[in-house]
Amino acid sequence: MASENRGIAEAAIVRPATEEDLDGLVQDLWAVASEGRWIGTEVPFDREARRDRLALLSPGELSALFVADTSSEGGPGVVGHISIEIASYGVADIGMLVIDGWRGMGLGTTMLNVAIEWAKSAGAHKMALEAWPHNSAALELYRRAGFVEEGRKLRHYRRRNGEIWDAVVMGRPLP
Ligand SMILES: CC(C)(COP(=O)(O)OP(=O)(O)OC[C@H]1O[C@@H](n2cnc3c(N)ncnc32)[C@H](O)[C@@H]1OP(=O)(O)O)[C@@H](O)C(=O)NCCC(=O)NCCS
Repeated sequence: MASENRGIAEAAIVRPATEEDLDGLVQDLWAVASEGRWIGTEVPFDREARRDRLALLSPGELSALFVADTSSEGGPGVVGHISIEIASYGVADIGMLVIDGWRGMGLGTTMLNVAIEWAKSAGAHKMALEAWPHNSAALELYRRAGFVEEGRKLRHYRRRNGEIWDAVVMGRPLP
């Protein structure tokens, strides 16, 4: 199954999200949030509100939403997405995920490269994000794409289970 998925992932395309993708993206977000370890969002969340937020991202001059779509080789369709929002001061904040079963196959790298090129063309001077210190896959992905650790927010985010987590702050200048 994993090797079959790898072949499908290699043929995946990264394209702008459309209205038809939104319910699936909310479902993917729910699935990854349910893992409880990787992203800031926790379940339950307001699906309708999240769908509305995603709908506002694409298409826009200062925001974008791209999906990794595996349909061409008979895959299940969209298995990951990346959002980019450029603040008024020129920094592009990103958030991304790949659903379980499709990770480690290069889709994160491909989506991140598309996001970097989009942010450059949209006039951002820098990209920024935060990741949990235990999220080695994300930290390594970002380092490889030229992000550097700028610092940490210490005991910053309270989780619903009462734990308080640090966050790694990363940035990447855009030439
Ligand atoms: C983080 C995430 C987006 C990475 O996407 P991905 O498609 O798995 O990443 P890639 O396959 O492109 O891997 C890129 C590099 O990251 C590193 N990497 C990937 N998975 C890794 C793992 N489990 N452990 C350590 N490094 C890992 C590797 O260096 C890899 O390059 P390589 O395959 O050439 O060795 C994905 O794992 C994910 O969605 N995780 C859950 C949600 C999440 O953490 N979102 C980001 C929040 S900040």
